[in-house]
Amino acid sequence: MRTIIEPFRIKAVEPIRMTTRDERAGLIAAADYNLFALHSDDVLIDLLTDSGTSAMSARQQAALMSGDESYAGSPSFFRFEAAVKDLMPFKYVIPTHQGRAAEAILFSILGGAGKFIPSNTHFDTTRGNIESTGAEAADLVIAEGLDPTSLHPFKGNMDLDRLEAYLAQHGAAVPCVMITVTNNAGGGQPVSLENIRATAKIAKAHGKPFIIDGCRFAENAYFIKMREPGQEGRSVKDIVRDMFADADGMTMSAKKDAFANIGGWLALNDDDLAQAARNRLILTEGFPTYGGLAGRDLDAIAQGLVEIIDEDYLRYRLRSMAYIGERLEAMGVPIVRPTGGHAVFIDARRLLPHIPPKEYPGQALAVALYLEGGIRSCEIGTVMFGLKPDGTEVEAPMDLVRMAFPRRVYTQSHADYIVEVFEEIVARKDALKGMKITWQPTAMRHFTAKFAPL
Ligand code: F0G
Repeated sequence: MRTIIEPFRIKAVEPIRMTTRDERAGLIAAADYNLFALHSDDVLIDLLTDSGTSAMSARQQAALMSGDESYAGSPSFFRFEAAVKDLMPFKYVIPTHQGRAAEAILFSILGGAGKFIPSNTHFDTTRGNIESTGAEAADLVIAEGLDPTSLHPFKGNMDLDRLEAYLAQHGAAVPCVMITVTNNAGGGQPVSLENIRATAKIAKAHGKPFIIDGCRFAENAYFIKMREPGQEGRSVKDIVRDMFADADGMTMSAKKDAFANIGGWLALNDDDLAQAARNRLILTEGFPTYGGLAGRDLDAIAQGLVEIIDEDYLRYRLRSMAYIGERLEAMGVPIVRPTGGHAVFIDARRLLPHIPPKEYPGQALAVALYLEGGIRSCEIGTVMFGLKPDGTEVEAPMDLVRMAFPRRVYTQSHADYIVEVFEEIVARKDALKGMKITWQPTAMRHFTAKFAPL
């Protein structure tokens, strides 16, 4: 059969409140054309993020009931710890309430003024947590990773020559080497097993701990299975284990590839580092057997980790992204190619060349998607990255719109609907106008800025 069906049945449903275009015109104006200001029940298809928005399975819901809420030594923690170690055999697994809490703890120990931390591309919370300690974060992804038209199979790969040069330049001031799988900020692009191993080898040769940001590890592993020579006959579980085998630690948001609505962890091998992290955890998150989570959350994660490596699920997951990408390309919508694991990124600057970057083509497209179809997406461009700390504005390298897909939530008819909304927009795209900012905060302006159409 050609159709890769959703490999699940639906047992509980959440109604979508239908809205008309007229209603949405009033709602988006009242939100000052910022999609973060919308009430989510005014959204038909919410593609703002794949984080924490997954549908839990019947088994996860059942696992919630076995959650044990003891302050110390809860069996939920030991189930969680065993599930993590089954995939990523680190010595210490430290639960946190979400990924950025793991990052904050790690960099409160490894960061600090005068330090330099390289990665393929740091996610913005990772960069923020590094920079807030006074350290510098560097993105050393391969050149193909920055070219939306390149069809390189592993556009998330680390540029190994640049990493060597960076380590030679900064030497003792580098406390660790990181890599993000998949590379979210670069379009959800995977990193090959060969590149992970080569990065680990370089880090080891320089005596640096190698830390993986593993948020979307299962999607990355399935890309390796599909695309990396020699990996096609292997199980995703074995590939996952190999991905982490040479690492000294990981940060994780369980809100992505653990099918959980909240949660994360920091895993480490080094005794002293783990001890320091636990001390910090007790101050900021909680006792080491719950770390900012309820026992029931730990059980939901443990079950989620069993389900996420299901290869029928992963095939369906990556195929759904590719399906939407293919249909958009067929109608001439420029996207970041090839489609990544969790999202489809549209190149708004190329779709709307008549709107200059400082009139925010990404925001204009995101607003049009809401107006025409009730779809909520996210601008990743000059709105998000254009405001410098000194208050000046620059053009971001690209003006993209990200449609990130919650896991197991939307079906193929939702995908077809999204494609139809694009057909409407493409037919009238030359009439779309840019936006201006009428108010903005001094940092992270995309969350709260107010806009008006030009
Ligand atoms: N690392 C990566 C690669 C991420 O994508 C995220 C979150 C984090 C770390 C932080 O995890 O949200 O649990 O604190 N990404 C979300 C997104 C927010 O929409 O891409 P968190």
